Amino acid sequence: MIRYENVGVQFGDFTAIPDLSLEVAKGEFFTLLGPSGCGKTTALRTLAGFVTPTRGDVYVDNKRVTHLPSDKRQVGMVFQNYALFPSMNVWENIAFGLKLRKHNRSERQKLVADVARRVDLTEEQLEKNPAELSGGQQQRVAIARALVLQPKILLLDEPLSNLDAKLRHQLRAQLKELQSEFGITTVYVTHDQDEALTMSDRIAVFNRGRVEQVGAPREIYDSSATEFVCTFIGAATSLSAELTPVLGLRPGLSSYLRLEKALLETEGSPLPVGYARFTGTVLAQAYHGTHTIYTVEVLGTELKILQREDGAARPEPGQTVEVGIHPRHVLSYAISDDHGQDAAAHAVRTTSAGA
Ligand SMILES: Nc1ncnc2c1ncn2[C@@H]1O[C@H](COP(=O)(O)OP(=O)(O)OP(=O)(O)O)[C@@H](O)[C@H]1O
Ligand SMILES: [Mg+2]
Repeated sequence: MIRYENVGVQFGDFTAIPDLSLEVAKGEFFTLLGPSGCGKTTALRTLAGFVTPTRGDVYVDNKRVTHLPSDKRQVGMVFQNYALFPSMNVWENIAFGLKLRKHNRSERQKLVADVARRVDLTEEQLEKNPAELSGGQQQRVAIARALVLQPKILLLDEPLSNLDAKLRHQLRAQLKELQSEFGITTVYVTHDQDEALTMSDRIAVFNRGRVEQVGAPREIYDSSATEFVCTFIGAATSLSAELTPVLGLRPGLSSYLRLEKALLETEGSPLPVGYARFTGTVLAQAYHGTHTIYTVEVLGTELKILQREDGAARPEPGQTVEVGIHPRHVLSYAISDDHGQDAAAHAVRTTSAGA
């Protein structure tokens, strides 16, 4: 459906995107995830037609659109700040693009009413000014304004980042529902790992203009392809060089263990088969309601262990505990000698060392 083919984007001397190749399938909810400045918006704007690549091509439905003007690409875009027109009411905001396309008044009435219903905007809200609506409602107006033109593709650039945490969680679900209801191919930009994991069919993790991994959320989390992806997508303990040989791992690798993969042995629930056992000392605990995170000193590693609150173990700081680690859960990467400059090219995944 969407294809970036060796796309490069240059701003003066600065290379924002060196060489991007990526495919998005029809109907997919596809997320571009990465830290600030890694090129997510640039990649999205290239697809929308607001940025012309210095090299390479962009295809939509196998048609080359690299030099096609934005309004001919059938893409709808929702910006971070929504960019609603403050001098128009909600109805006029949504109808704006229809007017440009020379739809007559009665067609506009019908199409706006239609899309407003589908995104849950009431007639009363249609008559208000955008400033009189809440952040979440404004977002729905921005989405309605994009969808009313019946685009083939919906592009969303951090549409939730202006909202408070609770609303953001609510709207994630709402947005995802809307997307699957409309069945529209969506490219979503965020720097929020949790948002990417919960909403996406697939994720592309960006670092300095390059894609380090493309995959389903579970794949990205459980089988992170590079050290950058591993540490960006979720919390993980970096394992010491003292600990890794005991797990049968090759020396000279950076190794990580996700917090929920380490186990605390308790009376009545011994460690499962395949787990290596270590004796450690509890250094700290942090209660999070649904779970507690223990910091346990094990062979020079301050191992973080996420323990669900219904788990039996409740050790106190200072206490000695038995800890289990399965070598299969360890994520290991070759250490690059240029301090991660080119981690993607050097990283080798060797998780199966012990299994
Ligand atoms: N028009 C421009 N002119 C010059 N440099 C630009 C331009 N647009 C983007 N850049 C640079 O390109 C890089 C990528 O920017 P981009 O906006 O794509 O990042 P991003 O991943 O969307 O970041 P954020 O999460 O902060 O929005 C940045 O270093 C940015 O300064
Ligand atoms: Mg951006």
